[in-house]
This record gives sequence, structure tokens and C-alpha cells, in this order.
Amino acid sequence: MNSIAIDGPAGAGKSSIAKALSKRLGYIYIDTGAMYRAVAFFFLENDVKDGTDSRIESLLEKLEISIKYEDGTQKVILNGEDVTGKLRLEEIGKLASKFSAIGSVREKLVALQRKLAQKENVVMDGRDIGTVVLPNAGLKIYLSASSKVRAKRRYLELLEKGHTDLDINEIEDEIIKRDEADMNREISPLKQADDAYYLDSSDMTLEEVVSKILSMVKEER
Ligand code: C5P
Repeated sequence: MNSIAIDGPAGAGKSSIAKALSKRLGYIYIDTGAMYRAVAFFFLENDVKDGTDSRIESLLEKLEISIKYEDGTQKVILNGEDVTGKLRLEEIGKLASKFSAIGSVREKLVALQRKLAQKENVVMDGRDIGTVVLPNAGLKIYLSASSKVRAKRRYLELLEKGHTDLDINEIEDEIIKRDEADMNREISPLKQADDAYYLDSSDMTLEEVVSKILSMVKEER
């Protein structure tokens, strides 16, 4: 199976780019951040405050995450319920970052991600795809952009979804904090794989980034 790994910090445009790429290549798009967000949502519902909670292992046994596709869009199913619409808030992103540092959470999700990539050609985005999940991916991209640009993209995304009370500086602060936590955690920290291409999308349109990656795909073949 062919796979493309896209890693990078929050708001770098990974998911929009991975989505567009998968469409063009006829691959399946897998948004692994949504899986960590679903775990965070589940822990929040069960009142888990942090990684020291003694119920984590037993809760993980009760947690079943799967994904399905509707009109090409990934839906995350948490214990039978489609929770996709509940996952995009920054509050959930922050919690996802906190709980994603737990080894058993990562083990469970990495196993699911690898299984999906064994069955289909995939474009998978996240933080540890090129380093841990798919170390043999056919192409690895580390996608970044300045924190100002990333905050603006997040702001526009939330605005479009109907959120009002938004402060762009606050969004930027949160993004920076989350990246720091993701880059400095012990297990599978966010970092560029040695064999990944670095792309800074600050001054590029989505189409430019997609074209650039498509030309890399051609070169790799
Ligand atoms: O990409 P997204 O913002 O949806 O990810 C939410 C959080 O999930 C990240 O901040 C990170 O802590 C975690 N994550 C991860 N590994 C991945 C994908 C996401 O640790 N492969």
C-alpha cells in the first residue's frame, strides 16, 4: 500500500491539504488528530482530569473508536456515536494534547492507524505519522507556517463554523502552548522525521502546497 505522512504543528493546514491530496490521488484521508480529540471528548464525558486518573486503563478498554466516510469526509465514531461535529473546539484540542501524552492512549490509536494504512492507500496527517506510525511511508512532509498565519487560519475556520466570541491573539497563544507541549512530551513528540521534506506554507495558497506535494509524489514514483 502507498502512504503519505503529513506532520506538523497545529493549524499548519495539514488537514485541508491532506484532504485535497487524497482526492487528487484517490487515496483515503485519515485525520489522526480527530482520533485523539475523540479520546479527549470521551475522557471529558467521564470526568477524567489528567493522566494520573486511575480509571484511564479501564476506560480505554471501554473505548471504541472507528472511522467511516460520508461523501469522502471522515467521520469519527466513538462507541457507536458519530462525534465528528463535537471535536473541533480549541478546548478539545487542548485536552487532546494533554491526553495524547499518555502511552496507552497512543498505543491504542497507533494500532488503529496502522491497521487502516495496511488496507488502503492513505494520506495520513498528525504529529508522529512519519516518525512512529508509518516510518516507511512513501513520502513524508513536515508542514509548518508562522504562528500568526496558523492562528489566522484557525480563527477563520472557527468564524466560518459560526463561532463569534473569538480573539485571534488568544488563539495564537493557545496554538503556541499546544505545540510546545506536543514537541516536548516524552512519547512520540512532534518532530520532523529525518527523511521528511520541510514545507513552510505561510506564503503559499492551499493549491500551491498541494501542487508542490503532487510533484514530489511524481518524483518519488
Ligand atoms: O491535529 P489536531 O489539532 O486535531 O490534534 C489534536 C491534538 O492531538 C494535538 O495537539 C496532539 O497533541 C494530538 N495528536 C497527536 N498525534 C497525532 C495527532 C494528534 O499527539 N498523530
